[in-house]
Amino acid sequence: MAQSVVDRTAEKLELFAKIKDLAKTKNAVILTHIYQRLEVQRVADFVGDSLMLSKQAQETDADIIVFCGVHFMAETAKLLSPEKKVLLPDIQSGCPMADMINIEDLRKFKAEHPGAPVVCYVNSSAAIKAESDICCTSTNAVDIVRSLDSEEVIFVPDKGLGAWVQYKVPEKKIHIYDGFCPTHWQITAEEVDRQRIVHPEAIIIAHPECDPEVWRRADFVGSTSQIYKFVEESAGKKFIILSEQGLVARMQADFRDKEILTVFPLPLCPNMKYHSLENLYQALDQEFTEITIPDTMLEPAKDTIDQMIEISSRKKMWSGPKSA
Ligand code: 13P
Ligand code: SF4
Repeated sequence: MAQSVVDRTAEKLELFAKIKDLAKTKNAVILTHIYQRLEVQRVADFVGDSLMLSKQAQETDADIIVFCGVHFMAETAKLLSPEKKVLLPDIQSGCPMADMINIEDLRKFKAEHPGAPVVCYVNSSAAIKAESDICCTSTNAVDIVRSLDSEEVIFVPDKGLGAWVQYKVPEKKIHIYDGFCPTHWQITAEEVDRQRIVHPEAIIIAHPECDPEVWRRADFVGSTSQIYKFVEESAGKKFIILSEQGLVARMQADFRDKEILTVFPLPLCPNMKYHSLENLYQALDQEFTEITIPDTMLEPAKDTIDQMIEISSRKKMWSGPKSA
């Protein structure tokens, strides 16, 4: 038994080194979302949230981007770097929330609120981005909506984040689409109340993709990078994180002097766990699965992301987690 554990570790280390060598030979960069398995985070050149990774995709001079995240994230990288080859190691990595709206749904929703600009969460397809006015991530959604010169705004597809933006920007009327993140919505208000009783001294932190009944009960609400930064800088010692397990695992590894807890059942996004060292190596070696975007969508979809980056680059951006 002990022998097989040692062998597995040696195998992983060898694979890790092979990925690094191959990436160097091919001038490839590995971008990894913080919800990914820790082993995939450790082999990455950059680990971060959606906003930070979009920025890295735009700035890199690599020939190949291997994106360990979900499909819309790899598409965003392709939009920002159309001349580069963008690879998604396991094509099953989609986002159910992004799939909750298609182009006909969006056009119908727009027709119900004529004249209102459309803000699309980055968790959406290139087709939805092409049909929207400006993009946002959970880090900058409030700033993006505030920046718009309009009293009414359409927000798609996430109703959790949309409700959070409406709460923070009450002076505007936000028409919110009915999409949601199944992983964050599995967290219930009852479970948060139970945790409050069991751990009265803990600071409760929620991602805005949660049900508003959940984030209303939290002491702090923020995006992935905002949660990470809050825990890093807080004098508190015990935290309950109402977000995806990958972020929790990463903070447990990085902040050993703090107690970082989560809820039951464990909020885990299965779509974020398909990539492994094994399929990452194969994807880089054989250069699959390449992400492509129809020419007609390229310019309008890129424009929605460029506008977002332009507005958020006026603020200091998160540079990713500490190296573990
Ligand atoms: P952020 O990385 O922008 O916080 O998004 C969370 C998420 O659900 C990614 O799919
Ligand atoms: Fe989509 Fe939610 Fe998974 Fe993020 S955590 S990829 S929003 S399903």
